[in-house]
Amino acid sequence: MDKATCDIGLIGLAVMGQNLVLNMNDHGYKVAVFNRTVSKVDEFLNDEAKGTQIVGAHSIEELVAQLKTPRRVMLMVKAGDVTDQTIDHVLPYLEKGDILIDGGNSLFTDTNRRTKALADKGILFIGTGVSGGEEGARFGPSIMPGGSPEAWPHVKEIFQAISAKVEDGTPCCDWVGENGAGHYVKMVHNGIEYGDIQLICEAYQLLKDGLGLSADEFAKIFTEWNKGELDSYLIEISATIFGKKDDDGTPIVDKILDTAGQKGTGKWTAISALDLGMPVTLIGESVFARCLSALKDERVQASKFLEGPKKALTVSEKEAFIEDVRRALYCSKMISYAQGYMLLREAAKSEGWNLNMGGIALMWRGGCIIRSAFLGNIKAAYDKNPKLLNLLMDDFFSSALNKYQANWRKAIIHAIEIGVPMPAFSTALSFYDGYRTARLPANLLQAQRDFFGAHTYERIDKPRGEFFHTNWTGRG
Ligand code: ATR
Repeated sequence: MDKATCDIGLIGLAVMGQNLVLNMNDHGYKVAVFNRTVSKVDEFLNDEAKGTQIVGAHSIEELVAQLKTPRRVMLMVKAGDVTDQTIDHVLPYLEKGDILIDGGNSLFTDTNRRTKALADKGILFIGTGVSGGEEGARFGPSIMPGGSPEAWPHVKEIFQAISAKVEDGTPCCDWVGENGAGHYVKMVHNGIEYGDIQLICEAYQLLKDGLGLSADEFAKIFTEWNKGELDSYLIEISATIFGKKDDDGTPIVDKILDTAGQKGTGKWTAISALDLGMPVTLIGESVFARCLSALKDERVQASKFLEGPKKALTVSEKEAFIEDVRRALYCSKMISYAQGYMLLREAAKSEGWNLNMGGIALMWRGGCIIRSAFLGNIKAAYDKNPKLLNLLMDDFFSSALNKYQANWRKAIIHAIEIGVPMPAFSTALSFYDGYRTARLPANLLQAQRDFFGAHTYERIDKPRGEFFHTNWTGRG
């Protein structure tokens, strides 16, 4: 009997891998599974996968032998060296034309390298972002595949079947681009996620310290916010979090230690922004805010030395201030996405990717952690003008910013007055003010560089590209 009856093989049965397998099984695909710690294969088959058509394998050789040709093998293992090692273990069993898929959170430069190295061996490689956490993986993640374009037709049907869908049924999964494009887009997604989370936390602290609101009040406010422009998964789960009580009946959120963890994708986004010279300031600040939060002991010590503002300022109109903060959050979020899209634009130029900006918004519209109604507005902006230079120049976004900027400024001014740190809100506003300023003070900066290092400058009264030097001291 021919054993090669499985549609796809998956290696790596941690929670994301398990849930993707169950999701594929739900959609009628026959999946073979393997895990380094082989006992997990049997545990999975006897527990979560009981009663399904999932097939276990106790070696990579056995896994590959179960697969129809061309073989499709998906890796859901720890990113980094483990991915390279696992690829090396699978390769001897593959033939030209087989498809290898890395669904981990790999760095896009690794995916660039792997796609090319595997293409030389005749293997079609896909590096794909998968977002949505455990729940997404199980019932419909956002999937962002890139790699060898010839591989896409072989996985398109499975990926689009298991992915999240937007209201009209369009899958939150489409081909992103060559080499590391999929992992790059996933990385920027994660960076934007860092930004969204930081913005929500700053709004929380400003309202908590400014108005003394309780967790129950926050649960109500966030439930309200989720019905309007801020409608999103992260606002929704925040409302649920605020409502959750510990065993003693008090809000659990108030008992959680204020030190943030991170796995590095926000940092990678910020590094890429610096490499490409793009001012993605909000994600950068969000990464640093997590770093500052992690210095808990040092902050506790510093709190005994360093004072905040002397006078306690009170807000007279509570409801109006809550609305100021909501609008400020919305404006800051627009800036963050505009910055993220600027980064995608620049990366596409530098890597030779033809990124479909509207398509990316659609992929993020459902399934993933940053899913929101707002991404529908981004998609609409790119549908209206696929060559849009910057989101902030789309009517929808520019008119919202023009309408809300006074509230945005008010919220930040109040934060400064009462001494609440708002790195992400503030950097968003500074970016907005910088981006809309036709003449910045870099004239003085260039003069200084020319003064101390003869770096030269261009002049407003001469053509661009002509460089001048001044003997600033009259000496020499
Ligand atoms: P988690 O996602 O739970 O944090 P992880 O340590 O990132 O787990 O590992 C994810 C997957 O990569 C697991 O399937 C893991 O296999 P084990 O269950 O045997 O730990 C796999 N993995 C991690 N390190 C590995 C290695 N050196 N070689 C092969 N597979 C590895």
